[in-house]
Amino acid sequence: MLRIPLPSLSVATLRRPRVRRLRSLLVAGLLASVAPVSAQPLPDGPRLRDLAGPRGLLVGAALGDNFTSAGMGAATYAAYTTVAAREFNFFTAENAHKFGRLHPTDTPPAYTFTAADRYDTFARQAGGHFHGHVFIWYKDTSIPDFVVNTTTRDGLLAILNDHIDTVGARYGPGTVVWDVVNEALQNSVAATPSNWRDALRHPSTDHWHNIIGDDYIELAFRRAAAVRAARGHTYRLVYNDYGNESLSPKADAQYLMAQDFLARGVPLEGLGFQFHIGTATPSYANIRANFKRLSDLGLDLYITEFDTITGSGATDLDKQAALYHRVLDIALRNPHFRGFQTWGFTDRTSWLYTWSGNPLGDDVRPLPFTADFAAKPAYYAIQDALAYEHRAPLVQNGGFENQLAPWSPSAGSVPAATFALSAAAPHSGAHALLVSNRVAATTGPVQDVYPVLASSRGGTGFHHLAGWFRVPSGPTPVRLVLRVTDSTGATRDFPVEGVAGASWTRLSGRVNVTWNRALVAATIFADTPGSTADFLLDDVTLGDGNLLANSTMEDGVDGWTALGSPVLSEETTQARRHYGDRGLRASARASAWNGPMQDIRPALLAAGPGLYEVSGYMKTTVAGRVGKLTVRLGVGGAYLHHSVAREIGADSWTRVSGRIELAWDAPPATAILYAETTAGAEALDLDDVLLRKLADPVVPAFVAWQALHFDEEERADDTLAGPAASAAGDGMPNLVKFALGLAPGDTPPADAAPRLSRDIAGSLTLELRRAIASGVLVTVESSGDLQTWTPLAVEPAITPDAEPGHEWLSFALPASSPKAFYRPRFTLP
Ligand code: XIL
Repeated sequence: MLRIPLPSLSVATLRRPRVRRLRSLLVAGLLASVAPVSAQPLPDGPRLRDLAGPRGLLVGAALGDNFTSAGMGAATYAAYTTVAAREFNFFTAENAHKFGRLHPTDTPPAYTFTAADRYDTFARQAGGHFHGHVFIWYKDTSIPDFVVNTTTRDGLLAILNDHIDTVGARYGPGTVVWDVVNEALQNSVAATPSNWRDALRHPSTDHWHNIIGDDYIELAFRRAAAVRAARGHTYRLVYNDYGNESLSPKADAQYLMAQDFLARGVPLEGLGFQFHIGTATPSYANIRANFKRLSDLGLDLYITEFDTITGSGATDLDKQAALYHRVLDIALRNPHFRGFQTWGFTDRTSWLYTWSGNPLGDDVRPLPFTADFAAKPAYYAIQDALAYEHRAPLVQNGGFENQLAPWSPSAGSVPAATFALSAAAPHSGAHALLVSNRVAATTGPVQDVYPVLASSRGGTGFHHLAGWFRVPSGPTPVRLVLRVTDSTGATRDFPVEGVAGASWTRLSGRVNVTWNRALVAATIFADTPGSTADFLLDDVTLGDGNLLANSTMEDGVDGWTALGSPVLSEETTQARRHYGDRGLRASARASAWNGPMQDIRPALLAAGPGLYEVSGYMKTTVAGRVGKLTVRLGVGGAYLHHSVAREIGADSWTRVSGRIELAWDAPPATAILYAETTAGAEALDLDDVLLRKLADPVVPAFVAWQALHFDEEERADDTLAGPAASAAGDGMPNLVKFALGLAPGDTPPADAAPRLSRDIAGSLTLELRRAIASGVLVTVESSGDLQTWTPLAVEPAITPDAEPGHEWLSFALPASSPKAFYRPRFTLP
């Protein structure tokens, strides 16, 4: 067990037994609630919907046919619905909402909703959203005869309209996205702006096209918009297809169609990319480019039917995970991306098992869960992609690419400078921001970051603030500042400072953001203390609590040095970067332990001991190597190593990840993080590395009680009870300390809160030291008889402690007569 030094008080022996007991209770409760549903353990890490939901993202799957307990078998249905509801907030029906299924009889216009209703109901009961699939599809093989036999434009339009009106009205309330038309384009007809309609599926294979004409798509969109408006629903109207994901003639035709629709006011609002990847490795750069040109039109982007054809071997599964990760990651980097859906979610059932073009026979294993509902590497790939973006930059338009918004000039109503996008010499991309004609040193761009900082993406704690400055007139002090205002009215600045000159200079630093009570405002701004020089700004980021500089390698080798004698190089070829434009390679390694390293000592000392998460993507050129990420602390002339390790791929990226506990009595003399293999000296690729603190030490939150304004006589009345009783006193008058034992995940039991009851007639200030990372809420209760306790409505004033991760809570307690007793109460939010 680690011993964590705490000022003036050693509490380790006091806490240990309590922590153990609480943990074993928790584990027992967890297993009991999971076991009856599925033999499979809960996947590690957060649920997908918990990662996506707070960011307004949709993550989900198509739910298959026979969606009843009888249809699937009770045990399967129970596991199927449990996993779906637990992981997803976005659901579609694989078939039940298709035209033929809604009109199974041949009597126009008869509707049968029984099966279809189950999906929509499930989505609502799971607290999720529904995806309508699909109003109009040429291939709906079960298009009833009454459709096929309708051969006049007006006749078929009447059927189309009635269908959209009826189905739209019925499922509109819980639906957020509707595929209005599916697969209307051919695969390889070259299109031009004037003739994109030539790329429409040939009338001989598409009854809707054949009878209504080539305007059937826009008529369907207009009708869907009309019923939506009439009913006050809010779903987005989407065109869905396959083969439209990357750059291709079909994608070009789709692009031209979208442009044309938008120009003429056809209510197209988004695109669905099916992403039935098959066995291919797609061109990620082309997907990114295609997504970008469509989102530049203002369209929402959805991945609607993702699956792959990959075998079930371990390498296959890792390859599959890499495909899932790369595609989702690219999508998440597009600000118009709204949702990710797989076509089914368990390998138990997939349309690919019967699809005729399936080259692997039954061994296609397309989805993120096994047939037995265990999470596959592909599941963790989705989780990781969502989680990474979850922690990704909190600043919008940090690259000043095409607009100034949401940045604004700092000077209120008076134009105190000229703000212009400059294409002259951007740090990256096409533009940087040029600020000139400044009237004050504080004139600069400001961005409101309150929404992200106040949300679950931000919060108090460590954030990484960085940006690039250029001051053409020569060396000048520059700074980036995160400014917060809290509900006590206090404003605090968290600056990152440096000096920039005529070439681009990076400012980068970690800020430990704190505020009292509630956050009221938060901004980021850039300025030049002491001067009004023109300056350029680019690539501003406010990141998560990652302790590493340049963790994505997007700044090349910058921040990384060699441990041993390897040569470090910035890699831009697709195989050597995990996401983004660059990866890092260590070649000419002299032995297995050679690799890229980073000095993490300053960041680590600021963050303090505790539980850390380490992860990174690794790759070598030889199969079967074990990749390792190590934090090495130099303590008392020796090295302490804390590693996470995993076998890594030769031709695919593998995520090496885990949790480590770091502790020290005296600050370590050195602290580095490095990547290595346990054998071999082949070139080692590294990308997207994360080191962040998850929690304070797995010893308890430390709470000290300090009661002021007493005289010696009154001290005799102290009542100290509960688990803390033995920790009373500190040799100082008017000061009593005790400890509360809590490990991360523990819930303080109501009856075991340590309590110091003070018989007091005068007013009193109560001070408590709290470990912030534990998230324990502290309130105060009072009692006249030590039997009945009543919560007091006193808000604490909060002061950060000198030691990071802790703060002081001071409660000003009212005078009471007759005398009252007070005690703190601890709860987890
Ligand atoms: C498929 C279903 O998965 C099968 O069960 C059904 O037999 C045929 O349709 N593109 C689409 C989906 O838009 O509707 C298709 O779903 C798969 C391809």
